Amino acid sequence: MAKPILKTDELVKIFAQDTPLEVHALRGINLEINKGEIVAIMGPSGCGKTTLLNMIGGLDKPTSGCVWINDQEITGYTDHEITEFRKQNLSFIFQFFNLFDVLTAVENVTLPLLLMGEPNKEAEEKAKVILREVGLSSRLYNRPNEMSGGHRQRVAIARSLITNPKIILADEPTGDLSSVISRDIMKLFRRLNEDLGQTFVLVTHSELIGSLCDRIIKMHDGLIIS
Ligand SMILES: Nc1ncnc2c1ncn2[C@@H]1O[C@H](COP(=O)(O)OP(=O)(O)OP(=O)(O)O)[C@@H](O)[C@H]1O
Ligand SMILES: [Mg+2]
Repeated sequence: MAKPILKTDELVKIFAQDTPLEVHALRGINLEINKGEIVAIMGPSGCGKTTLLNMIGGLDKPTSGCVWINDQEITGYTDHEITEFRKQNLSFIFQFFNLFDVLTAVENVTLPLLLMGEPNKEAEEKAKVILREVGLSSRLYNRPNEMSGGHRQRVAIARSLITNPKIILADEPTGDLSSVISRDIMKLFRRLNEDLGQTFVLVTHSELIGSLCDRIIKMHDGLIIS
């Protein structure tokens, strides 16, 4: 039996609790994801997908319930502990990728490695390799504002993969991309998954992406329905 790398127990998130604006975004999510799985989270807009991803990644705290990653309960961590934990285990690909406009694609992708203390030259070589893999060999030295949305998205994907994180959490990673490029990105995810055993949790509206994952978790109104 594969071992869960990620687990949630009765995860609840209520926004604006005890106010007229109260929203029950998550109503008790029980989830197990095994090491090396590629999982899609799907469901209608507003059903709680992003909220769930944020809880799993420790970007926000649940109202009640727990999250375990690698048998560590992260819900009880302090902000400092969670930041350290994230650096070593997780990587995010956001719906709105935060690239630095003054930096080139290579520099944006190199940044996480520099922050981890990797020498500039090695970091740059690795960045170029991964940018080529996401199909951006002709955009290595362009800045984000000189690129299309799809290109920027791929820079963000390259940046999130460069540190070889154990778990990659992605919110609509291929949202703006054509189905051809989406397939290429999924192929890259699959290859990393096979080579390095990385686990992927992808929030997506795309049936195509869903069909290329190992498993689809369907959400509705704050609950997992299948
Ligand atoms: N910070 C917040 N404050 C108050 N309500 C919020 C907050 N974030 C999300 N919500 C609400 O929680 C519910 C779940 O939102 P969430 O963003 O998780 O949905 P989603 O499934 O990611 O939707 P989409 O597919 O449109 O991205 C929605 O009703 C949303 O309005
Ligand atoms: Mg969302």
